[in-house]
Amino acid sequence: MRTGEAVGRAEAYANIALAKYWGKSAAGENRTAVPSLSLTLDGLRTRTEVRFDERLTTDEARLDGALVAGRPMERIAALLDRVRAASGETRRARVTSRNEFPTAAGLASSASGFAALALAASRAAGASLDARFLGDLARRSSASAARSFLGGFVELEADADSATQVAPQDHWDLAMLVAVVAPGPKPMGSTQAMIHTAQSSPYYDAWVADARRVFRRIRQAVVERNFEELTRAMEHSTLRMHATMFAADPPVLYWKGATVQVLEQLRRWREEGLPLGFTLDAGPNVKVLTLPEHAAALSRRLQGLAEVTSVLECRPGPAARILANEGELEAAAPTTEWCVEAAR
Ligand code: DP6
Repeated sequence: MRTGEAVGRAEAYANIALAKYWGKSAAGENRTAVPSLSLTLDGLRTRTEVRFDERLTTDEARLDGALVAGRPMERIAALLDRVRAASGETRRARVTSRNEFPTAAGLASSASGFAALALAASRAAGASLDARFLGDLARRSSASAARSFLGGFVELEADADSATQVAPQDHWDLAMLVAVVAPGPKPMGSTQAMIHTAQSSPYYDAWVADARRVFRRIRQAVVERNFEELTRAMEHSTLRMHATMFAADPPVLYWKGATVQVLEQLRRWREEGLPLGFTLDAGPNVKVLTLPEHAAALSRRLQGLAEVTSVLECRPGPAARILANEGELEAAAPTTEWCVEAAR
């Protein structure tokens, strides 16, 4: 049994998949059915402190000041149980977490959240800080979280335990603009939605087969810094993922009318010669990849659309890391110079 001070603090950044993961592998334990490749984003950061304390009778967590309950709390407690099993720590933990995401971003934070939690909890419990152990720990909670441990361009192979880096943060300077169209609750969480898609969409098997091919194209385009090929394949990945969901019974539809209107505008701007490509996750917001020299102009155009409530401009981001002290945890920086919120 461990005694004495047991505190860990860590930060991790959100990532957006260029090649999408949608579907669980038969290998179980939340391994993925398809390979995915993401870009870690600067600016969208989660900072978390974990403290094991003998006075607690149950794990507790606060996210942005609010007590976490229900299914989200069960997922946090499950991760803490795995850390306890691996370390010999027996005490319950108090988790304090803050998403330094610009307001109204409407972005899912489970990737940065579980990556920061895995790192902070392992540090607090004196468990392994080996990248594979941590990646595996986070992946079991949320597969995309395994990718948030690493900076730059990151892949998670189908059936893999943890993610690996394809290229570092400075490999290719790209800009990812997040056009927020409609904040609001999701129709269905991604975990449940992908299980439902696999069970009821007649297109699911085709998606899994095709996702492997599209992943290889995206990986090669990243390595070669081929923007045109990357954006074409990235759009195939996201549209085919959503098409598979549309075909589920009942359908899973994350898009809003505003989503389609933004996509139509993007098509017109591309025809005018602006280099861009889009991707969409389990929500209505449109993420637009462009080259840095076009980011400011494209951001202004997006802000000018009636459907867009705010635009976040992000660049490739760093790996998750342990924070040395409380001061570092508290140093608030809701936006970095690379992630500019332009609220209308
Ligand atoms: C559409 O990683 O949130 O963003 O493993 O069930 O927690 P769980 O799912 P999650 O799904 C991410 C789905 C996606 C695509 C992606 O990020 O690859």
